[in-house]
Amino acid sequence: MQYGHFDDSNREYVIETPETPLPWINYLGSESYFGLISNTAGGYSFYKDARLRRLTRYRYNNAPLDSGGRYIYLRDNNASDSARTWSPSWMPTRTPLDFYECRHGMGYTSIRSKLNGIESQTRYFVPMGENLEIWELTLTNQRDEAADLSVFSAIEFNLWDAMDDATNFQRNYSIGQVEVVDGVLYHKTEYRERRDHFAYFACSEKLTGFDTQRDDFLGAYRGWDSPKVVETGQSADSITHGWQPIGSHHVKVQLKAGEQKKIIFILGYHENPKDAKFDPPESQTINKHTVLPVISKYLKADEVEKAFQVLRVHWDNLLEKFQVTTPDVHTNRMVNIWNAYQTMITFNMSRSASYFESGIGRGMGFRDSAQDLLGFVHLIPERARERILDIAATQLETGGAYHQYQPLTKRGNNDVGSGFNDDPLWLVLAVTAYVKETGDFGILSEPVTYDNKPGSEEALYGHLQRSIQYTLDRLGPHELPLIGRADWNDCLNLNCFSDTPGQSFQTTTNKDGKVAESIFIAGLFVLAAKEMADLVESYKLKVSGLTFNVQPSTFYLEAANKMESTIWAAGWDGEWFRRAYDDFSHVLGSKENDEGKIFIEPQGICVMAGLGVEDGRAEKAMNSVDEHLATPHGIVLQQPAFSKYYLHLGEISSYPPGYKENAGIFCHTNPWVMISEAKIGRGDKAHDYYSRINPSAREGIGELHRCEPYVYAQMIAGKDAATYGEAKNSWLTGTAAWNYVAITQWILGIRPTYDGLQVAPVVPSAWEMFEVARSFRGVRYVVRVERKGSGNNVQLAVDGKSISGNIIPLPAENVKEVQVRVTIN
Ligand code: BGC
Ligand code: NOJ
Repeated sequence: MQYGHFDDSNREYVIETPETPLPWINYLGSESYFGLISNTAGGYSFYKDARLRRLTRYRYNNAPLDSGGRYIYLRDNNASDSARTWSPSWMPTRTPLDFYECRHGMGYTSIRSKLNGIESQTRYFVPMGENLEIWELTLTNQRDEAADLSVFSAIEFNLWDAMDDATNFQRNYSIGQVEVVDGVLYHKTEYRERRDHFAYFACSEKLTGFDTQRDDFLGAYRGWDSPKVVETGQSADSITHGWQPIGSHHVKVQLKAGEQKKIIFILGYHENPKDAKFDPPESQTINKHTVLPVISKYLKADEVEKAFQVLRVHWDNLLEKFQVTTPDVHTNRMVNIWNAYQTMITFNMSRSASYFESGIGRGMGFRDSAQDLLGFVHLIPERARERILDIAATQLETGGAYHQYQPLTKRGNNDVGSGFNDDPLWLVLAVTAYVKETGDFGILSEPVTYDNKPGSEEALYGHLQRSIQYTLDRLGPHELPLIGRADWNDCLNLNCFSDTPGQSFQTTTNKDGKVAESIFIAGLFVLAAKEMADLVESYKLKVSGLTFNVQPSTFYLEAANKMESTIWAAGWDGEWFRRAYDDFSHVLGSKENDEGKIFIEPQGICVMAGLGVEDGRAEKAMNSVDEHLATPHGIVLQQPAFSKYYLHLGEISSYPPGYKENAGIFCHTNPWVMISEAKIGRGDKAHDYYSRINPSAREGIGELHRCEPYVYAQMIAGKDAATYGEAKNSWLTGTAAWNYVAITQWILGIRPTYDGLQVAPVVPSAWEMFEVARSFRGVRYVVRVERKGSGNNVQLAVDGKSISGNIIPLPAENVKEVQVRVTIN
């Protein structure tokens, strides 16, 4: 069953019913001001940091699930029937509508509905470069007679720190403050003391009334589904003093038959200079001189339209960077539109704010951000560069890393700390991906602090060296890397041994961590060390006069080779790679185990690192994945699932079988297998796995999948679960970046290298041809690939001339477009 359809030419997903299995959301904003918006206008907004600068309130895990958002109420002032008041976005009144459609697009959402001849369309978006969101409401009277309508807007202000807002009522019920001037509602709680920012909510029309106190708007004991003010048509003109500040405008609209009217609302965030907060200076009144020009600009319909077009063009330009036409519509749509879009969202949000991440608990992840960047880097390399330098600046002098950092302060998060021993290695992959994309070797000499401490700066290159050294300094009894608190799998907590409710599995450490080892980190190390060797080779060629010490590439190659031998000696189980050794030095992920015999992560990472590709053992590992882990809904994380809690394994065994890390289809890991399949030349298999978790290909099973069909979810319940096939935790997952890498670089095979763009497709045997247009270092490559034989060997002709090898040499500086003909033999 489907709840909507893709409109690929407009790059939109069109939801045809408000009653989707779960709220199906979108994101607004691309730089500093962000919002989440559901298909029924639920959600919230924040500036940079979903915890510390939250503008509007949202209650997670509420009933109904998605209440609170960017609401508009309409009131037919002449009608006397039950459809007198309604929500044009269906929620929160849930009045049955004659027509409903929500279009989620690139950075905007538009909800259109009709009831009793009144059509309304609300387009929500954040203009580029601004810290505000626009709700552009267009009302059309399709009746034969005039309509007398009241329009009410409604948002609930959050008192900035979302955690405090949800917990500290004895204080917060006394601090709420607003100002209402010329129809603009200013929310200024805490502005009188340490904050220099405030929020505002403005409307383009003359107001009939307004409200800023929640109880006056809703009425005591009422909810958002039946506000008293909307019912009676009379705003209370309330000014909040403490309690719950809200913003609601009331506009009366008379529409002749056939007449249309636009009403614009803007909700924004604004900062004033510390010494110019008040006007007059001695008062407690907000200085509005700095914000009023912005407000008046965006209350004009033509400015709004202009800003919307700028946003459209921005996305056209971004997505143009990689466009593909293959025989598979789901591949095309995900690569060309939604997967690329999702990589931007994960880049911006990391794992902070979604409908499954509260924006409070987890800031930006070190490993998460490093991986998110892999799918995003070609879109806006300058932002990737900044992100790399920000993350690296939180790295510790040991080479270790804070597991998370706060987006607002860009500092490491002490609550979670460090000791996740895979973390630093992902930085190597991020930096090398960035340099291959851009050719910007200069980033390697950027001075970057450790732990944000001034004076500790070292060239970024030194950070990478320390990342590698960090692993080498922490080897266990088998010479494999010690796992620390956890590796990529946050739930494999081999040093935790927690039997106390409420303890964090990730940060509780009851063992000294000198025994438990990770084969996953070993594989990741080989991959990263080989990347370092390649980097050094290319770097030395490009840069002269280095002022710091660069290890020779042989150092990294020797380290990689040594680790490879260790993996073959202690990490190979005969048919697949093992997963770990626990605190008793017992193996995990081996045929010796009753549960957790085989895990997906080491198969993917070791083959990606090249292990066994030449001698058939990689193929063996992949065949084992197919046999033991693959399901029609994707590849599960391990088998057999853990049937009970094991003190020595930690959180992984806390999940019921089939969910999350305990044998769920943890989608992030699936592309590692796709890449590995491509590495061993099996294009059919690689693309088959790609299709199993492709959300667009799952659109038709919406009642089972339940999450949005346009973005990846972190998890699909595995075969051991009662709800096998059901997705959860959509949007913020490393799945986005890794699938993008798997399909574009390894299946389609269009890969940035230090020396040029490589074309090495490993595509399904049934594909006779495909075309890619890819921008790379300022040049547009138009690549047309045709299959002549059944293998994966390619022959390239660049602008009509045959070349040897599969790397297109960088063209002369003035060349802006290159035509490439590829035959697969
Ligand atoms: C989840 C993991 C996640 C971790 C973060 C766990 O509960 O299962 O997927 O990485 O929390 O702290
Ligand atoms: C989600 C986390 O964000 C990510 O860092 C981790 O690798 C996976 N869960 C697996 O546990």
